[in-house]
Amino acid sequence: MDSFLIRGGNRLKGKVEISGSKNSALPIVAATLLAEGKTTLHGVPRLSDIDSMTKLVGELGCHIYRNEPRTKTVGDGPDLNGPLDIEVMDEKKSEARYDIVKTMRASICVLGPLLAKRGKATVSIPGGCSIGDRPVDLHVRGLQKLGAEFRTEGGNIVGTVRGRLKGCRMYLGGAQGPTVLGTINVMCAAALAEGETVLVGAACEPEVTDCAEMLIKMGAKIKGHGTPEIRIEGVDKLVGCEHRIIPDRIECGTFIMAAAITNGELELKHCNVDHLIAVMDRLDEVGVKCERTEGGVVVSANRRLSPIEMVTQPFPGFPTDLQAQLMALLCLADGISVVTERIFPDRFLHVGELNRMGARIRKEGPTAIIQGVKELQGASVMASDLRASAALVMAGMVAKGTTRIDRVYHIDRGYEKIEQKLAAVGADIERVKEAKAVA
Ligand code: EPZ
Repeated sequence: MDSFLIRGGNRLKGKVEISGSKNSALPIVAATLLAEGKTTLHGVPRLSDIDSMTKLVGELGCHIYRNEPRTKTVGDGPDLNGPLDIEVMDEKKSEARYDIVKTMRASICVLGPLLAKRGKATVSIPGGCSIGDRPVDLHVRGLQKLGAEFRTEGGNIVGTVRGRLKGCRMYLGGAQGPTVLGTINVMCAAALAEGETVLVGAACEPEVTDCAEMLIKMGAKIKGHGTPEIRIEGVDKLVGCEHRIIPDRIECGTFIMAAAITNGELELKHCNVDHLIAVMDRLDEVGVKCERTEGGVVVSANRRLSPIEMVTQPFPGFPTDLQAQLMALLCLADGISVVTERIFPDRFLHVGELNRMGARIRKEGPTAIIQGVKELQGASVMASDLRASAALVMAGMVAKGTTRIDRVYHIDRGYEKIEQKLAAVGADIERVKEAKAVA
């Protein structure tokens, strides 16, 4: 297992190219199960989670091919990772095995497409998650309203459809508000259902919109995506298309805060700042300046960071996936900040690790109170989940001395070549085998 060794103190300076969105590519790859013929996806990042999803749809009868990188502009940009071709060759299989689902919860996204296209699906129930309770009851309830029947058996959700799914009007919200992947799962199924489906209380995240845009290119009839009410007129058939994945707004937000915590200056390219309005609003109050550029943003920060209050919310509010990174930044603010986590109330495993680096954070239920400190110290810390590990990398870049972060496989799930991108703009970071001690 790899670790990162980070020697703190360098200001980040330079340009970073933001990758395609992990959280958009995952459900989109699953949605290609709906189509006949080949789908070509541009801008799919190279990440372990993407490998798991392509392995899963491969097991479900798809031929997957990653083409050579294209440096020249294709459509609206180059494709440094090479377009990904996905073609359904065999529709006999309909099971998503535990071994894959346990590594990646987004596997649940094959449930809707399989039921709509093959009339049956067996998907292992995703287990526990380090960021907290993550049931899939809203996915099942939404698909049941379209006519699917379900039972659980041996740790699996087993779904069947008699004849064809039927559209209807439904409310899809839960106790913590809308569900992102639940909205996408039901929207995909409704695209091939009989009649109209109206999803009320739908998630508005850009990843939902991106998937809807691709389905429309496949021939789907969808309106209202990006709003809390999505209308889907079912069609008989969907065919393969060519689609570019949106930039990763969470990677972009992470780099904005990495620039700020090192008092650096970065130009981020290939990102859509309209997907980060609430983030930039909060950061402005902290003292982080974000200036739009053509297809990107330039970030700089005041040396003195101001404390703030922030509550995570569904899009367009402040995303839960940037909560840990913001907390790392606020560890160095001049005063007391309050961060409340409304989406995953237990998502605070980074608190203990940041406190090991000299931060002063106290947790009270879904709220963390952060007393700003003058500096952080390098230490050995443990990554617990994807975004927590990004926060530890940020803290390591500003801490006095050396920080070692173990279990960085968590970060490889969602950040493409992060240590290379950071080193290219001045960070002193290296990937080492876990055994190597701090010098
Ligand atoms: C997506 O997860 C993202 N994952 C998460 O990012 C992100 O944190 C989350 O949306 C919220 O923005 C991917 O896109 C792969 P939800 P998802 O269903 O769709 C509750 C990362 O770091 N809920 O919108 O699974 C749930 O417990 C990951 O990249 C139910 O109660 O999240 C939560 O409290 C982590 N029943 C809330 O809704 C359900 O059936 C929102 O979850 C589904 C969800």
